[in-house]
Amino acid sequence: MVAANRSALSPQSAIVVLTGAGISKESGLDTFRDADGIWSKVRLEDVATPEAFARDPATVQAFYDARRRQLQAAAIAPNPAHLALADLEARWPGEVLVVTQNIDDLHERAGSRNVIHMHGELLKVRCGADGSIHAWRDDVAPDSACPACGRTGTLRPHVVWFGEMPLELDAIYGALDRCGLFVSVGTSGNVYPAAGFVHEVRRLGRAHTVEINLEPSETVSLFVEKLHGPASGLLPAFVSELLETVEHCGD
Ligand code: APR
Repeated sequence: MVAANRSALSPQSAIVVLTGAGISKESGLDTFRDADGIWSKVRLEDVATPEAFARDPATVQAFYDARRRQLQAAAIAPNPAHLALADLEARWPGEVLVVTQNIDDLHERAGSRNVIHMHGELLKVRCGADGSIHAWRDDVAPDSACPACGRTGTLRPHVVWFGEMPLELDAIYGALDRCGLFVSVGTSGNVYPAAGFVHEVRRLGRAHTVEINLEPSETVSLFVEKLHGPASGLLPAFVSELLETVEHCGD
């Protein structure tokens, strides 16, 4: 299973792992574009754009309230794929950064610390009046007050909607520039800029590229190594192999 150019990795190589909804599927959270995915049940134009929020804030808040409640249900927990990435961060000598498109907190619950949520976080809200960001576990009601400015009716989910700029792009592109390994897990490759990160890594020409996904993504041809199947099985095995190379380096 080890591809020829995985051998160019050293224990000091920086690793960037891009994750998408597929990594949380086996934790009980729906993906977006699979047959039973979120966008098969609700139109993204109705719930995931600034225009939708301006037109019908109650519908948009209700959509995120339901997802926030589901995320906090007892049955939802990190799966072996999230745990494998936390293990990699703890044991790999070089930098390990998880860049996630997911707004759930399953990477953090698994123990990952170096995580960028480029599409925001479901368990946070942002005040449209003063821009402050707050941890938030409840529904957002019309009379919910901003903890900073006290105004009501100003809170919105701290998520990036279609047509808005993803978060922390400078930090992400800096990490892509440094990395020796880029792994994409559980993302269909439909949404940019995340789908373009593999282009950027290839352009720089320094990193090995790996896709781990249930099925080939839209950008599969750009990856050198492709592993297709459930992330909960493939990712722990992949991480074990990487960590073995570190242990052998220490022999
Ligand atoms: N293991 C690995 N991959 C899986 C699994 C699994 N158990 N289950 C599903 N997948 C794969 C699917 O085959 C699909 O290719 O995960 C991918 C999920 O793709 P999308 O539903 O398009 O999710 P994602 O790529 O994260 O979407 C990107 O789109 O709507 C937006 O903002 C939303 O962040 C999201 C963005």
